[in-house]
Amino acid sequence: MYGAMLLLHILAATIWTGGHLVLAIAILPRVLRERSPAKLLEFESAYERIGIPSLVVQVATGLWLAHRMVPELSRWLAFGDPVASLVGVKLLLLATTVAFALDARLRLIPRLSKQDLGALAWHIVPVTIVSVLFVVVGVSFRTGWFY
Ligand code: HEM
Repeated sequence: MYGAMLLLHILAATIWTGGHLVLAIAILPRVLRERSPAKLLEFESAYERIGIPSLVVQVATGLWLAHRMVPELSRWLAFGDPVASLVGVKLLLLATTVAFALDARLRLIPRLSKQDLGALAWHIVPVTIVSVLFVVVGVSFRTGWFY
């Protein structure tokens, strides 16, 4: 069971973090240069179909893995010991991601114009950085980088 959960978690991470790196490094600069909301929406509608399910899988398997590692939920946000603190950091990264994603999806994307592209870039870049931090913190459970 553990192996299957870890596999799903890592597979979903490749989709979430990989997709955001492609968006931020390959797609976004061209969208900004050509001032083309259509190109961004095209990527967004294709990626969304696999990106959102992968985030759901990520969160479900992540919570399972975290519960296996730190069974007492009260310790998750107490930042008392190093391993539980990493779980807490993952939850804070998740809250940041959800806040940016909801603001982009509900406020910016439905009426995206050339003028809003800069604001959207200010959502894509932080969410991409946070997606990489998720991986760094994830790998540090095993490597002990932060403790
Ligand atoms: C987009 C979001 C996320 C990404 C990209 C991500 C990525 C990763 C990666 C790459 C690993 C390393 C696995 C390994 O060492 O083999 C990992 C481990 C882990 N992640 Fe996540 N993660 C995400 C969200 C979450 C969430 C929301 C939680 C829940 C608190 C979580 C909890 C864990 C735990 C507990 C581990 C350690 C698993 C173990 O080694 O047994 N992750 N994550």
